[in-house]
Amino acid sequence: MSDCFDVNYAGREQSQIKHIILEKYLERFAVITGKWCSGIIYVDGFSGPWNVQSESLDDASFSIAVRQLRRARDTVRTTFKKDLQVKCLFLEKDPHAFERLKTFAAAQKDVDVVALNQEFERAIPELVNRIKAAGTGYFPFIFIDPTGWKGFAMNTIAPLLRLQPSEVLVNFMTGFIVRFAEDARAGIDASFQETFGDAEFRECIRGLVGPSREDALVFEYARRISQTGNFRFTPVTVVPHPTKDRTHFHLVYGTRHIRGLQVFKEAERSALNMTGRIRGEAKRREREARSGQPEFFGGADFPDADYVGALSTRYQTQAREAVHHLIRTKKELSFDDVCGTALAYPTVQLDSARAWVNEIADVANLGPLERVAKMDAGHRVKLRESSNRGELNLGS
Ligand SMILES: C[S@@+](CC[C@H](N)C(=O)[O-])C[C@H]1O[C@@H](n2cnc3c(N)ncnc32)[C@H](O)[C@@H]1O
Repeated sequence: MSDCFDVNYAGREQSQIKHIILEKYLERFAVITGKWCSGIIYVDGFSGPWNVQSESLDDASFSIAVRQLRRARDTVRTTFKKDLQVKCLFLEKDPHAFERLKTFAAAQKDVDVVALNQEFERAIPELVNRIKAAGTGYFPFIFIDPTGWKGFAMNTIAPLLRLQPSEVLVNFMTGFIVRFAEDARAGIDASFQETFGDAEFRECIRGLVGPSREDALVFEYARRISQTGNFRFTPVTVVPHPTKDRTHFHLVYGTRHIRGLQVFKEAERSALNMTGRIRGEAKRREREARSGQPEFFGGADFPDADYVGALSTRYQTQAREAVHHLIRTKKELSFDDVCGTALAYPTVQLDSARAWVNEIADVANLGPLERVAKMDAGHRVKLRESSNRGELNLGS
């Protein structure tokens, strides 16, 4: 999806950004895991098709997933001389959407695609059984992309999150969630408790308004995903509304491995690099629809980067403070821990984490596995080098 101005996403550019992240992440994830595991099981709990524009369903997440997993399988074959198995489990509760999903699934001859006309929560025991039946050599990736905040209750999906190994990507529908999270009406109140796992989540937003409240909600949700699934890293990425300067949704990703964190952040960076142009184009379309006048310049000429730039500044400030706090309060920590803290924030990238460490620490190289960072104020922290040496070292 190298084209920023894909007509299939006109009016739903937020889905394009989501799909760029999914596309970039999945292929690399499958190649990297394909080096050592025998197969990938990709589960999409809320498959659609939903608002797709193309006849071929190229702009549906399940179609993107199959394409990227197929590509990864080819790369694994040529690079590692291995046959990576690919299995997909696609769920869709709406019968009409399901018919299209089923037709798509039946047409995939070289990938094992199972389409189920079921509600995600009800299917959890079956999904867990199917994943376990595939065998321990399979790595599950779970995608949860609902239309609101219901249908993926934390305690219900816990058995899926706890599978080891596994990774998860959740679309946290922030736009709706911030509006209704404190709605006291019985049905709404109960459904939020289910999504977060209990009623305590409201403590984190007490007294907060605006962006702070929004951040607190999504970070609390990410913390609960981390806790429930024992995911060491749960970074959050932000997907803005295409034409308004506000959040549309966040994506919360869970992994137990530093390499997953790194690859996910690279996928986020690819999407962010395109977001200004996508938003510029979306705003141009909106102006044209209002005025009836075609405009000469588009998003490529005038990317709309100010809002994402402001978000980035805000998260850089928060992440830097968090990293400084972490380093000052620990006697020993790994660079992976620093990355886990810094990269948990939307838009923050690895080079920033490295810079913040170097900013307050005089990093002395004591050998290949251990470095001692002499802190200002005389505090010393032992920084163990990343488990992923060469990729994430403090050297530069
Ligand atoms: C946001 S759309 C999915 C979009 C798709 N992942 C994509 O990016 O192309 C959510 C889909 O989930 C379906 N759905 C809603 N509630 C569901 C549930 N409880 N279980 C399974 N599917 C559900 C809807 O009918 C809709 O097709």
